[in-house]
Amino acid sequence: MTSVSSISMATVGKAAIATIAGLAAYYNDRAIFDENRDMPTYPGQPLVGNLPMLIQYKDKIHDLFLETYHKHDALTITFSVLGVPRQILTLDPQNVEHVLKSNFENYIKGPDFHGAMNDLFGNGIFNANGDEWKYQRKTASHIFNVKNFRDQFTDVFVEQIHYMTDTIWDKAVETQAPVDFHDIMFKFTLDSFILLGFGVHLNALGTTGNVPFAESFDEAQRTTFQRFITPGWSITELLTQLSQPWKTSMNGHLRVVDGFARQVTEQRREQLKNGEVHKDLLSRFMNATNAQGEPLTNDELRDIVLNFVIAGRDTTAQALSWTFYMLMSHPRVEAKLLDEINATITDDTLADSTMLYEKIKDMKYAHAVFYEVLRHYPSVPLNQKFALEDDVLPDGTAIQKGDYILWCPYAQGRVEAIWGADAKQFKPERWINENGELRRESQGKWPAFHGGPRTCLGQHLATLEALVAIIFLIRKYKFSLVPGQDITYQVSLTLPMKNGMKVMVEKR
Ligand code: HEM
Repeated sequence: MTSVSSISMATVGKAAIATIAGLAAYYNDRAIFDENRDMPTYPGQPLVGNLPMLIQYKDKIHDLFLETYHKHDALTITFSVLGVPRQILTLDPQNVEHVLKSNFENYIKGPDFHGAMNDLFGNGIFNANGDEWKYQRKTASHIFNVKNFRDQFTDVFVEQIHYMTDTIWDKAVETQAPVDFHDIMFKFTLDSFILLGFGVHLNALGTTGNVPFAESFDEAQRTTFQRFITPGWSITELLTQLSQPWKTSMNGHLRVVDGFARQVTEQRREQLKNGEVHKDLLSRFMNATNAQGEPLTNDELRDIVLNFVIAGRDTTAQALSWTFYMLMSHPRVEAKLLDEINATITDDTLADSTMLYEKIKDMKYAHAVFYEVLRHYPSVPLNQKFALEDDVLPDGTAIQKGDYILWCPYAQGRVEAIWGADAKQFKPERWINENGELRRESQGKWPAFHGGPRTCLGQHLATLEALVAIIFLIRKYKFSLVPGQDITYQVSLTLPMKNGMKVMVEKR
């Protein structure tokens, strides 16, 4: 005889299945409880929406956004992902300009962004809004002045390049052993930035193998990025830690990077006690007051150091690596760049940093090459902001309060509707106008350095550093790719090369 309880269990089971089936029929292409939006939509699976697609493309996410455009022929499209707030992806330059600039006040770094970034970046400039952001921007902006560029920064870059050529490249020419170019660029920009920003001689370039701080910093960034595309990431990270206890956890990596940042500030406090005078980024912050008008705490200084390391090291190292990759794969461009270098730069120029700085400003083709590389390989390939209030984008897309707006400079740079039929070609000439002047593109079309009030503070510093390195290296060496490598990007907050880039080098 069937008992009452088994009947009720069966009834409950049937009702549950019917409810799920009903919900699946209603939310048949999107995440449960997401409403339909009157705009191009990336069709998803019942109840989970685009979550399976995100998982499938997690190692090629920037190409997914490019494919999305080609597949749907729409510059603005929405995604619905279980466990993630509504995402609206736009590649449309006028929309990007609107979010970054024209309606800046409505679009902030949102709560999910802050939550995912908090462990690594705390309240540092990349993760801050409002007054917390303003005081950091204002304090840092004082060091990016022409005098520092001309008299100090160029010197630091030249000094580090000499060290790099002596210790790495001249030796590689002699031994004819392959070298990981990407790794060397990370060490070069780390040493340069730590020296000019914090007055510390780190000497990563003199270290064979990995620098522990750098390794942990990279891992922590990768994990941070994965949080954006992993609903319930705190549980996933815990499970990974429990199932793979031999691997260094996120907390382990955070301890290493924290230790480094705190050591930098402690060392400075000691130097100040001994009467040393410094005028770099760190001392600016140590003498500044925070959003509450108080001197900065050790925690705030830790956040500032780490935020500036990602700003100053990773982005420029990657841009340099992709530049050399493009030059090695496009000999015509390399030859034309070398012509400009030889016509502008002499041994005397290289021996005088002020003269070098002045000459670089006039090197149109070198700038064009760098901008064209950043069009193809923007160091921040994907970004997002959170809408505080309802809004309408210039293309008519309705935004609701709480939506996340994504833009993908990596995809934007490759779209024909934005850059013309030759969008996918590497053509630095597109950056030079009919009068032979550098062409300025809008920040919405080319957001490689962001736009509006939060435009990259280090744009000119990065360009100077990259061009100094390009000039010295191209003038002296001929690099070639070791054949058979898979040169591709690693999905992270920035755009590192997943497998590095092995090169052979000869003297010119
Ligand atoms: C090729 C090299 C570089 C590229 C492509 C680049 C790009 C960017 C981008 C896209 C942002 C916006 C990030 C965001 O808030 O979501 C940004 C912000 C920033 N960058 Fe750069 N950057 C580069 C180098 C540098 C360097 C060398 C520094 C030196 C300190 C620097 C300092 C900053 C700072 C402080 C911000 C935050 C600005 C703010 O929120 O007000 N960047 N950069």
